[in-house]
Amino acid sequence: MAIVAVVGLQWGDEGKGKIIDLLTPQVELVIRCQGGANAGHTVVVGEERYVFHQIPSGILHAHTRCILGAGTVIDPEALVEEIAQLQARGVPLHERLFISPKAHLSLPYHRLLDQGREAWRGEQRIGTTGRGIGPTYADKATRCGLRVHHLLHPEQFRTAVTPVLAEKNFLLEHFFHLPPVDLEALCRAYAAYGETLRPFVRDTDSLVRDALQRGAHVLLEGAQGTLLDLDHGTYPYVTSSNTCASGLCSGAGIAPTRLTHVLGVLKAYTTRVGMGPFPTELHDATGALLRERGQEYGATTGRSRRCGWFDAVSVRYSVWHNGVTSLALTKLDVLDPLPRVALCTAYRYKGTLLRELPGDTAVLAKVEPVYEELPGWQHSTRGLTDYTAFPAAAQRYIERIAELVECDIAIVSTGDSRTETVVRRPLF
Ligand code: GDP
Ligand code: IMO
Ligand code: MG
Repeated sequence: MAIVAVVGLQWGDEGKGKIIDLLTPQVELVIRCQGGANAGHTVVVGEERYVFHQIPSGILHAHTRCILGAGTVIDPEALVEEIAQLQARGVPLHERLFISPKAHLSLPYHRLLDQGREAWRGEQRIGTTGRGIGPTYADKATRCGLRVHHLLHPEQFRTAVTPVLAEKNFLLEHFFHLPPVDLEALCRAYAAYGETLRPFVRDTDSLVRDALQRGAHVLLEGAQGTLLDLDHGTYPYVTSSNTCASGLCSGAGIAPTRLTHVLGVLKAYTTRVGMGPFPTELHDATGALLRERGQEYGATTGRSRRCGWFDAVSVRYSVWHNGVTSLALTKLDVLDPLPRVALCTAYRYKGTLLRELPGDTAVLAKVEPVYEELPGWQHSTRGLTDYTAFPAAAQRYIERIAELVECDIAIVSTGDSRTETVVRRPLF
């Protein structure tokens, strides 16, 4: 039995979707553990491109079952749409997709509050995806959230939402000057979503326990990345869930003692969407090249991703906080044409050298990266499936990353499709 957590080690969009899809044929269950419709996980199969927001990225493999765990936040309207789109593309979901009744609901007022708060913060905005993630997790923590089980019982939904909505509408109208949400329309629409989602809601704890007791292999699919973790990321420029392996365990309801492996996914360079410090960000032609070659535009919001050199300081931090046991390096092919490549090995702050990620985000915003330059390979690595076929300079770059972040690289991804991958060390 192997229980493998797959986590992003940077600021999200590392290619987790591709890696989950690649590993899924070997497992019985894939569990999304945290986050919600803020995620955008891309899977490319031949000419077909899928972007999963809430549905786990293992769903394209008919023999694997997929779970939305208790730690996720479900946007019923968006999920119903995502289900319909997948079904229209011929992906069977019946008895394959299961939703925990304990997952919290992201409702229209969460979205409005998220968007209202961002507009109100102006220069100090987080740059959220506007999907209501922060307000939903805030309600969960203040214990006024609604959960998936409420959706299945319209009367319980109404009873629970009525006092909450009174408070949210007051804020929306009188503070954010936005239109209030109508209780009757909300109850009607969500009763209908509840009916559509009813066949998917299941006691997922039993499904997971049964699978583990049979000795099945399981994948825990992380969303976002470690530097967006609510506690260990670059607060306040983070998401509102724990994106680390420990957060995946709690979101899936699987004890940390059962994890057998943590696979960290990292890009061969760095990207970030939204606001917040990014020491290795490039505002020059190289940054533009990374954006264009890497197609660095948000899978959820379409926003341009900020791009920069690989930052070994923050990734080493992520490797440690997740207890990463091996790495999947993605998008190496994006660097192919560059004559030289750079790795950030330390930061300089007010004349001193920092080798660790500072906990104070204001300090991180002021550090200067210290780079180690390596020769580029100026040769296509796109689609390679054999490690020995890589140019020597590309191998040197890969090995140097492994050395700097203190972890082995088990998988190297050389393109967006399933087949464009080098597996150096099998996980299962
Ligand atoms: P996720 O959120 O971590 O699942 O990543 P996204 O799907 O948001 O972004 C990763 C993007 O890179 C997607 O468009 C993938 O299709 C693409 N991708 C993944 N691996 C590779 C790779 O090795 N090379 C290239 N060129 N593209 C990749
Ligand atoms: P995947 O799973 C990249 C970022 C947003 C913003 C911050 C907070 O595809 O890697 P939120 O809407 O969560 O309150 O936004 O987090 N963010 C992501 N960035 N990939 C993601 O998901 C992200 N999910 C949230 O851009 O900076
Ligand atoms: Mg993404």
